[in-house]
Amino acid sequence: MAFCSPKFLSLLLLLSAIPIGIIVTLERAKPATHVYHYHSNGWFRECAKWDSHNRRFIVSFFEGGLGQVLLPEKDYESSPPLEEVTVVKETHLAGNASLGIAIDAPRNRVLVVNADVIGNRYGALAAYDLSTWNRLFLTQLSAPSDEKSFADDVAVDAEGNAYVTDAKGNKIWKVGVEGKLISIIRNPLFTSKEWYKNLVGLNGIVYHPDGFLIVIHTFSGNLFKIDLTKGEEVKIIKLKEGTLSFGDGLELLSPTKLVVAGNPSGRLVESTDGWNTASVVGTFSGPKHRLATAATVKDGKVYLNHMVGIGYPKKKHAIVEAVF
Ligand SMILES: *[C@@H]1O[C@H](CO)[C@@H](O)[C@H](O)[C@H]1NC(C)=O
Repeated sequence: MAFCSPKFLSLLLLLSAIPIGIIVTLERAKPATHVYHYHSNGWFRECAKWDSHNRRFIVSFFEGGLGQVLLPEKDYESSPPLEEVTVVKETHLAGNASLGIAIDAPRNRVLVVNADVIGNRYGALAAYDLSTWNRLFLTQLSAPSDEKSFADDVAVDAEGNAYVTDAKGNKIWKVGVEGKLISIIRNPLFTSKEWYKNLVGLNGIVYHPDGFLIVIHTFSGNLFKIDLTKGEEVKIIKLKEGTLSFGDGLELLSPTKLVVAGNPSGRLVESTDGWNTASVVGTFSGPKHRLATAATVKDGKVYLNHMVGIGYPKKKHAIVEAVF
């Protein structure tokens, strides 16, 4: 979501197309579902994931870094707004955005993608201990001499390997449990025939407990199954109903149900044949002007991260429950 990337431009276009008065009205309207609001110092938050073990959301800063939004222990409903506290700020990565995050609970750590979203000249994956916030590794994925890239989102498999999507180069970096760059997964299916559909390509990614990855291509709406038990075989998951174009972050709600954040805010996708085919079985429309970019599951409920904070001097962000 660079300041001059197509994704960011489309966001600006969307926002400037909505008159301020309508935004005010939308903001004042009573939300139809439960919302966690939190105060923040930044305008843009790409991703929020629920860390159930520590009763908090971990959020990624577009200006670089990570924050935590702790839930008070008891009876907290939705007010007063929660507070975002910075937990990671890497001076070494200044100028890069922090984007997709994945919580690797068995290893008590969080993985976060960092990228140069303006020049597409740098990408890295970092891992931090969830108790101490010590950095466990920082692995460079892409250098200025490589093809242009946009490291965007990350998933972690049962062994702790991480898979990072490249929304620009349409490939996936595989990083080992200790942070070593192992390989790059490429496939002709990842690239659309129409050039403009590749402006924002491989994006949200999840690991399915049966040993495969599910990945979305944003502008084409294609959903891929990458079978790690069959030598990273890539197949397009046939959509029997609905469309997934403008799909962004993903999260599994169960082994047969996948949530796709984006526009519309949320779509629920179901597969009954091990993700060879799937159907869109529900949609949720939240605060559009805030732009849903990531999904997470808290106590069996789906919550959508929204990228845009609103308010002054403190920006107020919204993590909105999606009901399908
Ligand atoms: C991103 O971080 C790398 C590593 O420190 C740095 O070389 C690069 O200049 C940063 N990118 C931007 C756009 O500042």
